[in-house]
Amino acid sequence: MATPATAGLLYFDDEAAPALRLAQASGFTARAIERHRFPDGETKLRLPVDAAGRLPPCAVLLRSLHQPNDKLVELLLAARTARRLGVQHLTLVAPYLAYMRQDIAFHPGEAVSQQVVGAFLADLFDAVITVDPHLHRIARLEQAIAVRQAVVLSGAEPLADLIAARRPNALLVGPDGESAQWIAQAAARYGFDHAVCTKERHGDRDVAIELPPLDARGRAVVLLDDMASTGRTLALAARLLRQAGAASVDVAVTHALFAGDALQALHDAGVGEVWSTDCIPHPSNAVAMAEPLAAALHTVLAA
Ligand code: R5P
Repeated sequence: MATPATAGLLYFDDEAAPALRLAQASGFTARAIERHRFPDGETKLRLPVDAAGRLPPCAVLLRSLHQPNDKLVELLLAARTARRLGVQHLTLVAPYLAYMRQDIAFHPGEAVSQQVVGAFLADLFDAVITVDPHLHRIARLEQAIAVRQAVVLSGAEPLADLIAARRPNALLVGPDGESAQWIAQAAARYGFDHAVCTKERHGDRDVAIELPPLDARGRAVVLLDDMASTGRTLALAARLLRQAGAASVDVAVTHALFAGDALQALHDAGVGEVWSTDCIPHPSNAVAMAEPLAAALHTVLAA
């Protein structure tokens, strides 16, 4: 069994702050992987070996996979090198897991990215810990990433705690059918009134949303979802809720991707506060996931 004294927590320099929070919560010692970017765009890594040039037999790699493309190459280099340097059990802690939404070929010839990236990660790691991966057409993370230990945490309950503190009588609304699972979890915890919209996506920034039958007049509405990318889903839902008489609309998401002008789109649509977990570093982060991630890590390494 690995303990904080016998396992290493590896991280990249741009994630020093979350790595140190996870180290503090878990008791593991965090060690940075050095990165050099060559002028032609290639990457060289140097792993933090001991005096004998080795890594411990059990190691954890923290990498949240927003802006994922370069990071996937870094994971390949880091994981293969870690094995060569003595690591026998390697856990990936990816608070945000990329490429989970493209889970089917919507048109002939399309890559099913979830399967491709899932197989890539399964080949590199023995265990994966993540938060609210976008599993729509499959029930379990192992179906996408076939590792022996695949652990899924959720931001819905900690976000519900925050919502209960800030908007105790909130009407909780999910912007699409897929959000029903997180709405159900959060509503079960505090008995919030709740409802879920229906959505059709026509393009990256083009969605159509229909509100469910609900009386939003005078209500403090909180929109809850797993992620906001362009923000168009939440912006349209917020606009419709405002038109339906909501007194306020705030937003809570696990994954603060907020690409481009997403935040502005939300505020233009009448959104007040925006809250997120710290799975992706962002100014909206209001909920820390280090403790649940550390607990999951201890469970995985004790197995
Ligand atoms: C998809 O169903 C997800 O749960 C989100 O609703 C979606 O990814 C949000 O995308 P965007 O912010 O670009 O509308």
